[in-house]
Amino acid sequence: LENILFLVAAYLLGAVPFGLVITRLAGLGDIRAIGSGNIGATNVLRTGRKNLALATLLLDAGKGAIAVLSVGALTTPTVAAAAGAAAFLGHCYPVYLRFKGGKGVATFFGTLAAISPVLALAAGGLWLLTALLLRISSLAALIASAGAPVIAYAIGHTDLLPFVAVMTAVIYLRHRANIIRLLAGEEPRIGKKD
Ligand code: G3P
Repeated sequence: LENILFLVAAYLLGAVPFGLVITRLAGLGDIRAIGSGNIGATNVLRTGRKNLALATLLLDAGKGAIAVLSVGALTTPTVAAAAGAAAFLGHCYPVYLRFKGGKGVATFFGTLAAISPVLALAAGGLWLLTALLLRISSLAALIASAGAPVIAYAIGHTDLLPFVAVMTAVIYLRHRANIIRLLAGEEPRIGKKD
């Protein structure tokens, strides 16, 4: 029962839509009416406010990391990894926004960073490399999240595979509209409004 409470708490933390809160506090209105309509850092950057995008990135990543670290301090590493996945699912399917949330990329990396810094660095490096070369946030996320289970396997973290695989699958589900735009050659570059 205790473990279930940890997972629910992690989900509720993950469900806090920082991008939406931050842009609203900054007087920018509803971020869901801008750009891709997403509540994440990539879309906050489309408002032109780099600091707000950075804050969104750090807070959304922080939700995952804090869920893993705080639950990890109280119980086993496996439950801690599950708590990270619960925070991630909270971000993607938040109860506060009728389950219509973000795409999970920042929370995925925050969760990975707290579970396995090596895995987070490798997958984060893949994101950065793709983003620098191609300048498309969604494509970088799709490549890095596909790489994450492969890297987890390669570095012997088979215990993490179920959690990583679920998060990767959800990232792909949440990027359906991006994938359609990518295939049509219509996905905007990082920082561009459309
Ligand atoms: O992190 C989300 C990113 O991969 C795509 O965001 O706003 O371009 O759909 P967006």
